[in-house]
Amino acid sequence: MSKENSDEKNKQLDQFRVKDEGEALTTNQGLKMAEDEFSLKAGERGPTLLEDFHFREKMTHFDHERIPERVVHARGFAAHGEFEVYESLAPYTKAKFLNEPGKKTPVFVRFSTVAGSRGSGDLARDVRGFATKFYTEEGNYDLVGNNMPVFFIQDGIKFPDFIHAVKPEPHNEIPQAQSAHDTFWDFVANNQETAHMVMWHMSDRAIPRSFRMMEGFGVHTYRLVNEKGQAFFVKFHWKPVLGVHSVVWDEAQKLSGKDPDFHRRDLYEAIENGDYPVYELGLQIINEEDEFKFDFDILDATKLWPEEDVPVRLVGRMTLNQNVDNYFAETEQVAFHPGHVVPGIDFSNDPLLQTRLFSYTDTQLIRLGGPNFHELPINKSVPEVHNNQRDGYGRQAINTSYVSYHKNSLAENTPRPVSEGEGGYSHYQEKVEGRKVRARSESFKDHFTQAILFWNSMSDVEKQHIVNAFSFELGKCKEVSVREQVLEMFSNVSHELVSAIAENIGLSVPGKKEITYTKSSPALSQENTTKKTDT
Ligand code: HEM
Repeated sequence: MSKENSDEKNKQLDQFRVKDEGEALTTNQGLKMAEDEFSLKAGERGPTLLEDFHFREKMTHFDHERIPERVVHARGFAAHGEFEVYESLAPYTKAKFLNEPGKKTPVFVRFSTVAGSRGSGDLARDVRGFATKFYTEEGNYDLVGNNMPVFFIQDGIKFPDFIHAVKPEPHNEIPQAQSAHDTFWDFVANNQETAHMVMWHMSDRAIPRSFRMMEGFGVHTYRLVNEKGQAFFVKFHWKPVLGVHSVVWDEAQKLSGKDPDFHRRDLYEAIENGDYPVYELGLQIINEEDEFKFDFDILDATKLWPEEDVPVRLVGRMTLNQNVDNYFAETEQVAFHPGHVVPGIDFSNDPLLQTRLFSYTDTQLIRLGGPNFHELPINKSVPEVHNNQRDGYGRQAINTSYVSYHKNSLAENTPRPVSEGEGGYSHYQEKVEGRKVRARSESFKDHFTQAILFWNSMSDVEKQHIVNAFSFELGKCKEVSVREQVLEMFSNVSHELVSAIAENIGLSVPGKKEITYTKSSPALSQENTTKKTDT
């Protein structure tokens, strides 16, 4: 572990760090034991006795060592670091960690793959998670993002369906960590909002060279809110100072065999050697009154905001400078949640984000065994926690107050809500009205414009890699009807693309489509306005 950090979070963690070296072996009750090799028996060759409390305790604890892995993003690797803001962002947000030039905030970052199990390989073709916990003076703020700027689906009610399609097939648990199977492609073809994200997924972005060379994206549109109560739409970016680099598929396959820990080893060793990874935080900001100025819906998570139209402003830098001491205590038990916000950061009505706000605490209640996982050292906020929540499995706080309810007449000093002026969080008062409907907005129905732009923005080599990836992955799909549906779908993106894939996997090329842009977007300009048909 590097000793660079002496921040507030590290001081707090120090109280929990245990050094066992040179100490007498004890039971969990603190009793020193004289023997740890042989169970207590009735005679040297006789049966083990129930009386052997040391054996029972040791074995029972071992029997309960495993917890459920994350339902997604099970394989991950994390490090501590610090974030430093360059300038005051007070005109946009009242978040204190973004208000003072040069202010430093401790962070914990976990990188992950999505589909594979905890023991799967690092180099799978997959999206990578990029989750950051800022331990701010106003409480924990989590930016739970990915290394791609868009997502497969638009509404989180489809997330269980999507993950069921992506995870290994149910009858044989094959393949372990790749999108090379029928259920994945069947989902894609029958849920065509996936088109844009699948293009990213088949690109080199899905096989990063290193966690140190990956971008991060908050994906959703969030809100920043300033002291005056003015709100701005925002997208968050992490830009690696080392640049974005990938391996090629041949390298990925060889590395998967030779060193399945390639990415975690790379990050661990870089930090141990003092070669600290640095990422700059970028913001894209859209004023509230400009919400409808774009020819895509800014609440649709399958769309990015083109950087040439909404520039990314670099506002701070994050340095990862300390490896964890204990993988389980820190990396496995950390609990991120896009709903962990601080004053000055709020949500938009993106239906994917809205549903995520439910899912994370819900899953962590079972993964981390009850409602007190916020007390685990890695999850503890720097400010103390005060409220009327009580009890539950593993409770550590010894609340001394007699009264644990609000309102009351028996105690004067129970925790009280405080005004915004005193730092109390209050939600942005967005005006919302509408009929209760289960529906997709018309403005979410264009699935191909940005997929086409992505394809058109690729160099020849990158295009070839995308063709190869589709051919490899789709080529593993057994159902010819599914392969055909996928080719038909992506003929909406490029005839050149599907012709090359069809040839590689021995199918006939779907009819050439007149590819017209369903919307001619000023934001997605030039390229698509000048070239209406993909030839
Ligand atoms: C992890 C749900 C979409 C990024 C998780 C976990 C769940 C989940 C249940 C496991 C959490 C845990 O056990 O601690 C969902 C749902 C989604 C969704 C329901 C859509 C409705 C997304 C999107 C992103 C994302 C769009 C990226 C912007 C992550 C990351 C992790 C994660 C990075 C791993 C966090 C860690 O390292 O512990 N998600 N997710 N998820 N999700 Fe999502």
